Amino acid sequence: MNYEQPLVQPITLAGGLELKNRIWMAPMTRSRADNPANKPFEIHEKYYAQRASAGLIITEGSQVSTEGVGYINTPGIYSDAQVEGWKGVTKAVHDKGGKIFIQLWHVGRISHPDFHDGNLPLAPSAINPNEKSFTPEGFKETVTPKEMTRAEIKQTIEDFKNAGKNAMEAGFDGIEIHSSNGYLLHQFFNATSNVRRDEYGGSIENRAKILFEIIEALKEVMPEQKIGLRLNPSLNGAFGMTADQETIPTFEYIVRKLNDYDLAYLHLSEPFSDVSAITYLVSHIAKHFRPLYKGTLVINGGFDQEKGNKVIEQGDADAVAYAKLYISNPDLVERFEQNAELASPDKDTFYTPGEKGYTDYPALKESQVR
Ligand SMILES: Cc1cc2nc3c(=O)[nH]c(=O)nc-3n(C[C@H](O)[C@H](O)[C@H](O)COP(=O)(O)O)c2cc1C
Repeated sequence: MNYEQPLVQPITLAGGLELKNRIWMAPMTRSRADNPANKPFEIHEKYYAQRASAGLIITEGSQVSTEGVGYINTPGIYSDAQVEGWKGVTKAVHDKGGKIFIQLWHVGRISHPDFHDGNLPLAPSAINPNEKSFTPEGFKETVTPKEMTRAEIKQTIEDFKNAGKNAMEAGFDGIEIHSSNGYLLHQFFNATSNVRRDEYGGSIENRAKILFEIIEALKEVMPEQKIGLRLNPSLNGAFGMTADQETIPTFEYIVRKLNDYDLAYLHLSEPFSDVSAITYLVSHIAKHFRPLYKGTLVINGGFDQEKGNKVIEQGDADAVAYAKLYISNPDLVERFEQNAELASPDKDTFYTPGEKGYTDYPALKESQVR
């Protein structure tokens, strides 16, 4: 074709990591680590290797500690067994010429006592998100979490650092801090989930503090150019998050301050719901935040091929992360290159164990080329 698609152009991240294209695989929990150690194994190797033509794969959220878990069968990155498991995944992806970051995750108050021998999950403040938690016995109502002590906050920062060290040992090209989607770090940012009176609450700067302390801690175990992070500024009415007038100013503060670092990338999500009627929220995240950030910006949320090319062409993002399309189109890059038909994902197998709906989506057949 004559049209040079921006999506298929290469891009180099800070630190010189060269990516083949700007079509990234967004982080997606798939709940296949159904073993007592919550370690990835052969099916994870196969799944991620099938998607190695992505410019960058960002793995599913992977808990940084036993406290950080909030869903069944999600993999961790805190034990030796898990590091061994991930080594197989990074090798499989690298053998196929791909690049892969791991998403580091702590769910905070979205967890449930059933994951913690009856102990309460940790959060910035003792405020129930009134959500559902997916426990070994099925969905249960969330509880009022335990307000973290300063010592618990320090330990959590240490857990992220340790996970970063483990990620390097496992052969990842970098890490993505999961500071998005209503999980622990997002709970700190938001005034409706963080009513602390110490240096981690109150002002915008204080509510953002834990993120920057985690970045500083991670820098001790990896170059900052291997650190990316994810934000969902206009999230409202999902994952226990309620936005308010200070929400967008908080994210503007965070994004501007990220310019003090030479990070791999900033990963933003467009709103998960229509927020156009909420005057203090932003409907067009890439457009709003692009001018505030000088580094590589990847955007996600509801993009197809056309919208992806357009957002890059307009200069509002440098790359696009695709989630659901990557479940059912392991060769999404090749399909975009050939303007081929896309397969639809089956929701019923998003989180079920085994290969079905995971590694059995076929790559493009010649006959499907338009
Ligand atoms: C099955 C599934 C699992 C997901 N798990 C994660 C996750 O672990 N971490 C995360 O940051 N976002 C997660 N998300 C959100 C996606 O990364 C993405 O933001 C969302 O699906 C919108 O992008 P899309 O329109 O391209 O699907 C998940 C989404 C789906 C569908």
